[in-house]
Amino acid sequence: MNVLERKLDKTKTKNSYNNVVWFYNLWSWLTESKAAKKVIDLAEIEDGKRILEVACGTGVVFEQIVNGNPNGENIGIDLSPDMLNKARNRLKKVSDNFELREGDALNLDFDDNTFDILINNFMVDLMPQEHFDRIAQEFRRVLKPKGVLVISTFSFGKKRINKIWFWIAKHFPDLLTGCRPVSFKDNLIKAGFSIEQDMAISQNTFPSEVIKAIKIK
Ligand SMILES: C[S@@+](CC[C@H](N)C(=O)[O-])C[C@H]1O[C@@H](n2cnc3c(N)ncnc32)[C@H](O)[C@@H]1O
Repeated sequence: MNVLERKLDKTKTKNSYNNVVWFYNLWSWLTESKAAKKVIDLAEIEDGKRILEVACGTGVVFEQIVNGNPNGENIGIDLSPDMLNKARNRLKKVSDNFELREGDALNLDFDDNTFDILINNFMVDLMPQEHFDRIAQEFRRVLKPKGVLVISTFSFGKKRINKIWFWIAKHFPDLLTGCRPVSFKDNLIKAGFSIEQDMAISQNTFPSEVIKAIKIK
């Protein structure tokens, strides 16, 4: 499948998420909530773990991570300060055992072998394809050996109706803040993950892929 080209412009990405923050939760509830639920199921969170969510956005999934890990360590990072503020407002109502901070998936500010679980939802699909290997390597680096990665992406989908999203991403990229269908599995394998689960999900025609992978080396 041809992945549409995107260029990295962190300032533009930051600004576009600062701009869509007001309706982002409705959008993700309509198109991504099914995948998000699957991500949480596959992560099999047990209390007492060290968990990182990269690109935590408004904290929809992060809230469930924190609820499942009340005595562990919960860290969420995102490029957009406005998305993080929304996440902070959501999280402070449920717990004080979390940390949210600005951070970049391409240069994770954490030591090697730190986390038991790393979660990343709907971020790779807005990154340039030439950065996919680097992202997979960073995920692997900060996970402990046998650490679990669960990731969801905007995907090509299996049904004919799913193709409409490729068309929108191609012709009206700004409508989707630059996101487009991608495939990330091969980059994970190349970086040193084994694929445990790989699922195609379609919600209101929007196609996603959810992958559970384990750090093997
Ligand atoms: C489509 S939203 C997904 C948010 C959240 N994961 C969810 O599923 O609701 C993409 C998020 O990725 C963040 N992001 C984009 N590039 C990033 C990067 N290089 N490092 C960290 N976060 C990034 C954006 O700021 C935005 O919050």
